[in-house]
Amino acid sequence: MTGSASTVETLRWRDGRLELVDQRALPSELRYIACDSATAVAQAIRDMVVRGAPAIGCTAAYGVALEALRLQNQAPEKFESGLNAAFAALAASRPTAINLFWALNRMRDACRGVSAPREVAATLLAEARAIHAADIEANRRMGRHGAELIRDGARVLTHCNAGALATAGHGTALGMIRSAIEAGKRVSVLANETRPFLQGARLTAWELAQDGIPVTLIADSAAGFLMSRGEIDAVIVGADRIAANGDAANKIGTYPLAVLAQRHRIPFYVVAPLSTIDLKIARGADIPIEERAADEITGFGGVRWAPQGIAARNPVFDVTPAELLTALITEAGVIAAPDGAKIAKLAKPA
Ligand code: MRU
Repeated sequence: MTGSASTVETLRWRDGRLELVDQRALPSELRYIACDSATAVAQAIRDMVVRGAPAIGCTAAYGVALEALRLQNQAPEKFESGLNAAFAALAASRPTAINLFWALNRMRDACRGVSAPREVAATLLAEARAIHAADIEANRRMGRHGAELIRDGARVLTHCNAGALATAGHGTALGMIRSAIEAGKRVSVLANETRPFLQGARLTAWELAQDGIPVTLIADSAAGFLMSRGEIDAVIVGADRIAANGDAANKIGTYPLAVLAQRHRIPFYVVAPLSTIDLKIARGADIPIEERAADEITGFGGVRWAPQGIAARNPVFDVTPAELLTALITEAGVIAAPDGAKIAKLAKPA
């Protein structure tokens, strides 16, 4: 049976704690990890329990709220310094996804002018809940806008996981596919495995299969071959940070797909909420790119395949120049051939 609704709840607030799907355990096991402090939340983000730009932003917002609730009975000075430390720890958890900093800024703004600790804590929890709900709504809007670009019968290639697991629900790239299916179109997905952390093989394949959406897993290096055979109709990906000129940082391996798509005249779509646009960064070259531990390259899941002592580099995002984007889809609408002027019209400074 082919469905479209996303069934997994990536993050949820339960009994005064934040519960996160432990994405490291998927697809073998669907289990939740409970966090009760900002330190635990920052650790969960760093360790990839939760990942994906919008999900990281929502999670960090709850991290601030958790810390405020934990400290609300302390003296005001202790409360304030504890909360500042929480903001700092969360901001240091991962560098590339702007949604993290966007959410933290929103949390700071929400409690301006509120001083009593208990009142601040209540305000912060309400703001985290609002960010969470708004992300689901933004994904649904993006989905509806983007669905119109997908034709009936389309075979769509996606990279990494930009689905319900990477957001508060529905997904960005996968949300567009879900919405097209909801609109009655038949869509099948080719999922790049996404070396080295295998978000495609472990998460996208699982998430789509879970919801009955036809998905076929391929090695990242098979994309060019399949494009050359006319077996891919569109490439749809998410983004972690989009510069003011439209250059888009996303999971490592996205840029070569955009180059291949141009070579084969296949539309290349980036789907991301306005919270992913960083107007303070002029061009993609200025986006901070996370480099993670070499052991993500030299092996996986406790198995090592590279020689001991070998040098390895692990940049985990790359930047696709705006000129390679057929369109950018946000909750505010579709921008064909995005550039600085079109983006400035749509997005307001944070
Ligand atoms: O390292 P990750 O798994 O956090 O990287 C995630 C991605 O690159 C996603 O494509 C991006 O965050 C968009 S998620 C809607």
